[in-house]
Amino acid sequence: MKKILYIEGDGVGPELMAHARRAVDSIAKVEWVRGEAGFATFQKTGTTLPDATVQAAKESDAILFCAVTTPPNILNYKSAIVALRKELDLYANLRPFCTLPNVPVPFPALNFAIVRENTEGMYSGIEKREGDSAFATRVITKKGSERIARFAFEYAKRQGFSKVTIVHKANVLRLTDGLFLEAARGVAAGYPEIACEDALVDSVAMRLVKSPQEFQVIVTTNLFGDILSDESSALVGGLGVAPSGNYGGKHALFEPVHGSAPKYAGKNVANPTGMLLSAAMMLAHIGEKEASEKLTRAVQECYSQKIITRDVGGSASTSGMVEKAVSLLG
Ligand code: NAI
Ligand code: MG
Repeated sequence: MKKILYIEGDGVGPELMAHARRAVDSIAKVEWVRGEAGFATFQKTGTTLPDATVQAAKESDAILFCAVTTPPNILNYKSAIVALRKELDLYANLRPFCTLPNVPVPFPALNFAIVRENTEGMYSGIEKREGDSAFATRVITKKGSERIARFAFEYAKRQGFSKVTIVHKANVLRLTDGLFLEAARGVAAGYPEIACEDALVDSVAMRLVKSPQEFQVIVTTNLFGDILSDESSALVGGLGVAPSGNYGGKHALFEPVHGSAPKYAGKNVANPTGMLLSAAMMLAHIGEKEASEKLTRAVQECYSQKIITRDVGGSASTSGMVEKAVSLLG
């Protein structure tokens, strides 16, 4: 039986995780192991990511994560999820965006994905302050750029996409994004069957609002990917609906794109879609393809029947929507 480490985290994390586990248990047999991380853990133990959690993550077949609160005002506070992605070398963050039925959105039938480099770039964690100046080091490596580009092209191939867009700002960040672009183009040459374009990040931010149907797979560096994926979630119904997977050579972690949404904690109103679809991505990863498709279809059916939460125009509670999804799983 596959071993799944689950980390509920803070805010809406505990309730959404309980729902996701229940949905998974109704269609697949997995062994759950509980891991602690986040702000509540920090308050209890003085660390956001205990060694025991990292160890358990390394011993699991996959990790299901909800979200952690990261208070901006504590000096040297490390985000547990950023640290975990680094510890496990989860270099590829995959965020698929698909239109769901009955959600009021500006464009019908979108289906595209963002592949974001997850371990370097602007989030390398190298910052310093010298008096009234502060510096961040943006690390880009050939190895990191090639492996994220390869991940994007392999994903495109597997999913039947015919185009990959390399997103960068090499006209200004000439050395760092120059290297990223050069490395990604080199990888693209090995996939003649997939069209490759490259585009500047600011123009892509505009095109995502104006004509998002132009995109199939976007591959980009850490900060740009973070921003473009929050923007993209608005095209399919907001932060509550978007799932993601973080993949490395050995490990994989699945989590909704949204954060801990503290204002919704304990209110039974948070949208469970991002969490449930992340669980579906996890099932696919551990070889439970049928269960994965079943769970995805059940969530889509909730939208077809409009048993959905308020953020996407429905009136169901979190538990009401999950109840419906689980009943559809049979
Ligand atoms: P957030 O994603 O938690 O919430 C932003 C807004 O999006 C919410 O106010 C709400 O309107 C909407 N939203 C988010 N999740 C939703 C859901 N499931 N259903 C319906 N609406 C939802 O981002 P925010 O407010 O910037 O950050 C809150 C905390 O979460 C912070 O401490 C932040 O550091 C942390 N965070 C953690 C992440 C992670 O663990 N991966 C990612 C992003 C933020
Ligand atoms: Mg984000």
